[in-house]
Amino acid sequence: MTSAARLRVGVVGLGRLGKRHAENLAYRVPGAALVAACSPVEDELTWARENLPEPRLYDDYGALLADREVDAVWLVTPSSLHAQQIVDALQAGKHVFCEKPLSLDVGECERVLAEAARYPHLQATIGFMRRFDPSYRDAFDKIEAGVIGRPFLVRSQTTDKNDEDGFFVRFAATSGGIFLDCTVHDIDVARWLLGKPRAKRVFAAGAVALHEGLREYGDVDNGVAICEFEGGQLAMFYASRTQAHGNDTHSEVIGTAGALAIGRNPRVNRVEIFDASGVRNECTGSFFERFEEAFLFEAREFVDAVAGVDAGVGASLGDALEATRIGVALRESLLRGGAVDL
Ligand code: NAI
Repeated sequence: MTSAARLRVGVVGLGRLGKRHAENLAYRVPGAALVAACSPVEDELTWARENLPEPRLYDDYGALLADREVDAVWLVTPSSLHAQQIVDALQAGKHVFCEKPLSLDVGECERVLAEAARYPHLQATIGFMRRFDPSYRDAFDKIEAGVIGRPFLVRSQTTDKNDEDGFFVRFAATSGGIFLDCTVHDIDVARWLLGKPRAKRVFAAGAVALHEGLREYGDVDNGVAICEFEGGQLAMFYASRTQAHGNDTHSEVIGTAGALAIGRNPRVNRVEIFDASGVRNECTGSFFERFEEAFLFEAREFVDAVAGVDAGVGASLGDALEATRIGVALRESLLRGGAVDL
């Protein structure tokens, strides 16, 4: 494909995840050309100069939006900035991919949906990449085919290996807390696998097992939650920042004629070790190791959707709004105690 025929993308935010998206867009998404990158941090721009194929570099988001040779922006910035940055991108005439969550505030989500409705020719997608993981996809297809009857319960967890450096303690100021940062994925998975029900009541509780620094943000390093949906379906969530064994993200769906477990053994590969301590396998170390393919497939699908071939797998802005609505209610339940009606 000639570069003129490719979607010209500018990536915004080159932190922990932004660098990964940038490398995918530069080298592994045939329909995309990574032409610009933006970060206010000089070290990150230096990384871009050394690792990306000569993108135009900006330290200011407004300047990137003014670049007429950028068709789409790829936001991998702090969650507290997403809503305004999406609105700015749409007003500048750019397609926009934005990492999850859409916003930490329901009113801000509604503002983005209203603005996006004014630009129906522009693609706007939120990165709930778990929908693109082959195993989650297969489970979705099996549910659609009726393999487990009528699904009525999802049990889903996002748990990270303990990071003694405490990245997420510093990150807590802008992450929205464990439910809006981590469980938001499980919320989206539950709604996706249960047929997009609307939540009616939630209850959450949490514990600080290791990272005392989270208390000043009203956050916890382990959280559990229950969500009741209007149609009678249920979801149970667990999120953790303190696992000893690695990133252990998995989900189960229970239906009237069977159940599916997705990734319940978080094995890094198919090797099993038989030794004096028994039989075991090694575990995925990080979310990126677990979902590397999913991040790539979601990028390819975004590019296809802009070209008019939309497989409809990704989360809509409406789905992302519902995920934030439930995540905000979980945080409220955690902070004030007791169930929260939606
Ligand atoms: P990070 O803190 O490592 O990176 C944030 C980046 O945004 C940095 O490059 C920073 O320089 C840049 N930035 C800050 N203010 C900016 C501004 N005004 N304009 C342009 N750039 C700005 O954070 P991380 O972990 O990369 O997370 C970024 C986003 O990705 C968050 O919204 C997070 O929720 C999401 N994320 C999603 C994951 C998933 O599983 N889908 C996993 C990890 C993060």
